[in-house]
Amino acid sequence: MTDPQRSRRIAVIPGDGIGPEVIGQALRVLSALDLPITTTSFPWSAEHWLATGETLPQGAAAMLAQQFDAILFGALGDPRVPDQVVARDVLLGLRFQLDLYINLRPIELLDDRLTPLRGKRCEDIRITVFRENTEGIYAGVGGTFRRGTPDEIAINEDINTRKGVERIQRAAFSFARDLGRRLGRPARLCMTDKSNAMPQAHGLWQRVFAELRAEYPDVAAQHLYIDVCAMEMVRAPERFDVIVTNNLFGDILTDLGAALCGGLGLAPSGNIHPGRCSLFEPVHGSAPDIAGRGVANPLGAILSLAMLLDHIGESRAAGRVRHAVTHVVRSGQTTPDLGGTLSTSACGDAVLAALSELR
Ligand code: NAD
Ligand code: IPM
Ligand code: MN
Repeated sequence: MTDPQRSRRIAVIPGDGIGPEVIGQALRVLSALDLPITTTSFPWSAEHWLATGETLPQGAAAMLAQQFDAILFGALGDPRVPDQVVARDVLLGLRFQLDLYINLRPIELLDDRLTPLRGKRCEDIRITVFRENTEGIYAGVGGTFRRGTPDEIAINEDINTRKGVERIQRAAFSFARDLGRRLGRPARLCMTDKSNAMPQAHGLWQRVFAELRAEYPDVAAQHLYIDVCAMEMVRAPERFDVIVTNNLFGDILTDLGAALCGGLGLAPSGNIHPGRCSLFEPVHGSAPDIAGRGVANPLGAILSLAMLLDHIGESRAAGRVRHAVTHVVRSGQTTPDLGGTLSTSACGDAVLAALSELR
């Protein structure tokens, strides 16, 4: 990733449902950018599992880490797969095995008309969420006992390690420091947890937060409990520049954040380990309710591609893509979820046209 001359390699995992539909449009945008990037597609999906019994093959994570600069991912989830084993093995498998500890999820209102919040404008809703992505209640530690009987016990443990909690909070503080320099005022960072009800696990979040807050006096750091944080995001989103939280709370807050900006179809994300092969995907899932109808919004996937381009050092191209998407959104050239009438591919056409017009 250090040699700017070398051609970059991107692994593509379109997945299930609308995943292939939206990734198809992101790939059209990528090829229009005419960058020295090659792509290789991998079939891991519900269809592939039904045909072969394979989820994420042995050694796949190591192969991706060695041979690719980044991964572009659509979505996984299919009603024919009991227990969502494919999504867990592939998506959570890659997050964990590649140690992609930062789930970076920008919440950014691109057009005043898209927010359901009365009186709020683009400058009020611009929040970057740092979601811990390798532990918490997602770690899969737990089990069932006397399963299927009236005496059943079902447990998932909330795993919080010193290393895991510190590195995600440090990433958020350090981002907030840089953001503050760009804004010309201290950036507002909120750490949110449930340490009142979970003093053991989330007490660790509090102790790490106290240490980092002292180390970053130039960041305007505050703490909110998760319930109040969710309320405040709706009541006064302008209070937040950066939010850092655990895996589960970050999952929930970012769907809420997407709704503040027009819906899931527009929300991008990165699963990142700085300096390593990282994975970029829209926040939404496979949307079985609209799959195959050609109406899925491709813009979340296209904005995820922009985040990927930033990660591999193609910031100029990333900026062009964001600019084109913003233009398309503001001019109403969108799919029905954003109030437009375009199909998935016509929305992709509009992005391509904007890219070539806005040189
Ligand atoms: P979802 O995000 O797939 O859909 C929620 C709602 O948002 C649906 O009404 C859907 O039509 C709409 N929507 C989502 N993306 C859209 C788009 N691009 N354009 C227009 N509308 C869009 O969430 P769900 O229904 O809870 O989950 C469906 C499946 O996806 C489940 O199996 C779930 O586990 C999985 N899932 C996967 C990921 C992922 O792969 N990263 C993320 C979330 C959910
Ligand atoms: C997401 C999804 C996943 C998560 C699911 C599919 C396991 O909701 O990427 O937001 O909870 O992380
Ligand atoms: Mn989610």
